[in-house]
Amino acid sequence: MPCREMMSCKLRSAIAGLAVFACLFLQVQGSSPLLLEEWCGVVPQINLKIANGKPAEFGKYPWMALLHMRKIFFCAGSLINNWFVLTAGHCIFDGAPVIARLGEYHRDTDIDCDNNNRCLDPVQEYKVDMLFRHRLYNDKDYTNDIGMLRLDRKVEYTPHIQPICIIVDSDIQPYVDEATWFKATGWGRTSGDAKFASRVLHELDINRRPKADCVKAFGQHLTPEQICVGNDDGNLCNGDSGGPQGRNATMYGIERFVQLGIASYTYENCSKVSILTDVTRYGKWIRKVVEWYGR
Ligand SMILES: *[C@@H]1O[C@H](CO)[C@@H](O)[C@H](O)[C@H]1NC(C)=O
Ligand SMILES: *[C@@H]1O[C@H](CO)[C@@H](O)[C@H](O)[C@H]1NC(C)=O
Repeated sequence: MPCREMMSCKLRSAIAGLAVFACLFLQVQGSSPLLLEEWCGVVPQINLKIANGKPAEFGKYPWMALLHMRKIFFCAGSLINNWFVLTAGHCIFDGAPVIARLGEYHRDTDIDCDNNNRCLDPVQEYKVDMLFRHRLYNDKDYTNDIGMLRLDRKVEYTPHIQPICIIVDSDIQPYVDEATWFKATGWGRTSGDAKFASRVLHELDINRRPKADCVKAFGQHLTPEQICVGNDDGNLCNGDSGGPQGRNATMYGIERFVQLGIASYTYENCSKVSILTDVTRYGKWIRKVVEWYGR
């Protein structure tokens, strides 16, 4: 299949190349140095017809987590292993108990079915028993906008609930920096004019933009851990906060979906540009939280 752009081909082959090396390393060391979870980012076959259009394909993003408090949806997140959901730091605060809903597609129905009456398994709800916000998170300028939620019981993977890949090897960073676009998913508002968050999961390819575009729009300096993105005709919007942006890449010989960004913040009416947290730069932090607080 032809690559849509130079950079993506380069990213893909570079990661694939490194993966071979990492795989050899893996056999020797018995641990996974490249990814947090070795089995991640793969969408199992769910025998459903694929629908076209802007709503995300059914069951194609099985790591999406919807975060709510007393049924009020406030942020998205991504499942990164059996115990943790990754989200934005600004989605973490004391208050009502947080629930992570996994396997969700349509927010109004417990069992989601497509037009042909083919259905996903019911959603699963998990209580959150520990909250982790990066200690350098700054609620004035949203720097280090990253956090994790520990679930109160182990997530059993199913075809519609799977972990996303997190790169924990900082050697991969230069290839991540070359990614020129990201696949974003969320239940956020679909435009600045829309009053309410979307009922169904949406997907959007969003382009990386020069940091100067974000500096201009927000009048603030960007740290190396922040990515500027935006399209002329589409953007992330309220409700997408905490959700993942990523790319398919071949690692360990399999095409997987790797998370590269977390939706951090956007312009007033969701026009112009948005800022993502650069996930790969926090690979060590994520791994530490998992090692210290995982069960
Ligand atoms: C990633 O690759 C898999 C396997 O080729 C494919 O089924 C899936 O649709 C791709 N996902 C995205 C977001 O492109
Ligand atoms: C909102 O977006 C529109 C473009 O869709 C733009 O013309 C307008 O100036 C924006 N308003 C604000 C307050 O940024």
